[in-house]
Order: sequence, then C-alpha cells, then structure tokens
Amino acid sequence: MYANVLLIHNWLRWFTLIMCIGAIVYAARPVRSDTKELPGNAWDTYLMLAVDLQMLTGLILYFGLSVFTKVAMENPAGAWGDPTVRYWSVLHAGAMFASLLTVRVARILALNAPTPAIAQRRRLIWFIISTAVILSAVPWPFLSNGRPLFRF
Ligand code: HEM
Repeated sequence: MYANVLLIHNWLRWFTLIMCIGAIVYAARPVRSDTKELPGNAWDTYLMLAVDLQMLTGLILYFGLSVFTKVAMENPAGAWGDPTVRYWSVLHAGAMFASLLTVRVARILALNAPTPAIAQRRRLIWFIISTAVILSAVPWPFLSNGRPLFRF
C-alpha cells in the first residue's frame, strides 16, 4: 500500500507540473477584445484538480503510511532535530499546502478582477508563484532528501 501510494504521488507530480505549464501558457496569452472569456480557462480547473489529488495522496502518506511522518507524530519535539523527518513532516508538506492555497488565490483574484486584462495578469502572477513553490518543494533526486524522478 505504502509503495503504491508513493508511486501514484510520484507520477501525479508530472501531471501537476504539466498543468502548471499549461495554466501559465494560457494566462500569458492576450485577452480577446470580443469576449469576456479568459484564454484556457479550463486549465485553472485542471491545475486545481491536480493539486487537490496531490494533496489527497499526500495526506494519505502523511497520516497513514509514511515512516517519516509517523516518527514526527510520535515525537513532534524531536522531529525538528532530524533533517529528514523535518523535511517530510514540515517543509515538503507545508510548502505544498501553500501551493494549494496560491492556486486558489489565482482563481479567486481572477474571478473578482474588474477587467479581463487584470484577471489575466493576476492568473499569470499567481500561477508563476504556485509553480515556483511546487518546484522548490519537490524532492528532486539531487537534493539530500531526493527521490527518483520516476517510480515503477
Ligand atoms: C503539488 C503538490 C505535491 C507534489 C508535487 C509532491 C511531490 C512529491 C514527490 C515527488 C514525492 C516523492 C515520491 C517518491 O518517493 O517517489 C513526495 C513524497 C511525499 N509527499 Fe508529496 N507532493 C505534493 C504534496 C504533498 C502534500 C500536500 C503532502 C502532505 C500533506 C505530501 C506529503 C508527502 C509525503 C508524506 C511523502 C513521502 C515521504 C515518504 O517517503 O514516506 N505531499 N511528494
């Protein structure tokens, strides 16, 4: 079970990053003057879905399966002292939770923008921020807590 959820969580990372790129590309396009519809609006929803699925599998790992977060929950005070436990229980999960919020912020600010051009600019800025947060919190193989790019 642990291995299967890790595998899903690992592959979902690629789905999430592709959705990030798609959302940024469409948010960077100019708005058409003959419509109020924002270009590639559906990508916002796909990105939210991707981050939500990542969150769901992350929570299953966090509260059910991960050996690292189990150690952290058994001894919260000691978790900060161990770099690996700290990374998984605080840094990775915390930053990824922040990315979920920034994707929501992008959507809400765009929906409440006074003009489509402003909505588009807000989407672009917040999707770039979300992507930067995600990229910074992924356990890339070259990091000390690195994980494989692809799991089989
Ligand atoms: C965009 C969001 C996220 C991305 C891109 C992401 C990415 C990853 C990746 C690539 C791994 C390594 C998987 C492997 O070993 O093959 C991982 C592991 C993990 N993630 Fe995430 N994650 C995200 C969100 C979250 C969230 C929100 C949580 C917690 C609530 C979380 C908790 C974990 C845990 C506990 C592990 C595994 C540690 C272990 O080996 O036991 N992740 N994540």
